[in-house]
Amino acid sequence: MRLISLEVTDYRNIAAASLTPGRELTVLSGNNGQGKTNLLEAIWLLTGGKSFRGGKDAELIRRGQPFAVLSAVTEQDDGRQNTVRLTVGAPGSPRPGRYAAWNGAPPKRAAALAGSFPAVAFDPGHLSLVKGAPELRRRFLDAALCQLYPGYLAVYRRYVRALQQKNALLRHTCARPELPYDQKIQQLEVWNAELSRQGEALQARRREYLKLLGPLATANYAEISHGAEQLEVLYQPRFEPGGLADALAECRAEEIRAGQSLCGPHREDLELLLDGQPARVYASQGQQRSIVLSLKMAEAAAAAQITGEHPVMLLDDVLSELDESRKAYLLTRMQGRQTFVTSCDDTDFLKTDGEVYRMEAGVLTRL
Ligand SMILES: Nc1ncnc2c1ncn2[C@@H]1O[C@H](COP(=O)(O)OP(=O)(O)O)[C@@H](O)[C@H]1O
Ligand SMILES: [Mg+2]
Repeated sequence: MRLISLEVTDYRNIAAASLTPGRELTVLSGNNGQGKTNLLEAIWLLTGGKSFRGGKDAELIRRGQPFAVLSAVTEQDDGRQNTVRLTVGAPGSPRPGRYAAWNGAPPKRAAALAGSFPAVAFDPGHLSLVKGAPELRRRFLDAALCQLYPGYLAVYRRYVRALQQKNALLRHTCARPELPYDQKIQQLEVWNAELSRQGEALQARRREYLKLLGPLATANYAEISHGAEQLEVLYQPRFEPGGLADALAECRAEEIRAGQSLCGPHREDLELLLDGQPARVYASQGQQRSIVLSLKMAEAAAAAQITGEHPVMLLDDVLSELDESRKAYLLTRMQGRQTFVTSCDDTDFLKTDGEVYRMEAGVLTRL
């Protein structure tokens, strides 16, 4: 996938900007607070997803304006070009929220764009993937799988709904001492049956995906670090395939005591090891950055293998804390893939044959 051109109007601090990216590398340089991340975020919105920074749609519109407009031409790997016009309307305007018109068709909700412009974003917030709670690593996995398989999202939602029902049961009904134990078990069984059906399906997808993602991330890390350390990505399952129903039955008594559900794919984790040691504990800032980058590039490569379309890479503030050889690696490994990088320091890029833009107070100029 490639972005061929992008026109931005009244988006965050950008009144009007016009971007013609390079086929591989495009650099957005400038000081802090000038609008580099804003522009990257605008490109991301073409995926149909919500902003990777979170926040409300209304914040995307330049203060005091009724709506923001993004007009883009994209090109698929097979050479087919598409036009996208995405509008963000302020609350109370004739069309509030995000809408997208695809190849001139009448606008639909922007979420309908899903899959039409695949992108993988790295932002410094993702660094908590290494040291943060297991939930963040599960979210990384689940978000990638939801993008790749629409069916995964449906199963995921069914699982979460059943889990909420079961937790409510454990918290309220099961906590009542006057109710007979058999009755509690019977009610729990209803949800456990549903959880084991959906949970097995979730885990099967995760396992299959990690078989592809893990080795790709390991290879990326070996390249980024020039073989200095080895990264391993291991799945930490809570049950063996086919074993969720038994595992749920086993922890039933404990769950009733604890008043919450303790077993299932919502308790699983990814273990990241550097030279066999948990990266969570030992990885330096630069190593954490290298790990997350390796995972993100692996995510893109896995998507390319599964869908046949290579996502656009959006790398925000990726270069700080990387040493010269790791930077050099990053800036030379686009290999036909389109990559956008923001940086405070454009000296890194003057040697490259990428397109270099400068962002200053929302005004974009080509260097
Ligand atoms: N809706 C908005 N209207 C006007 N300015 C905005 C809006 N949202 C964010 N900004 C401004 O954008 C700037 C931050 O831009 P950002 O892209 O994060 O900078 P950086 O170049 O450091 O990545 C801030 O000055 C902020 O006030
Ligand atoms: Mg920024």
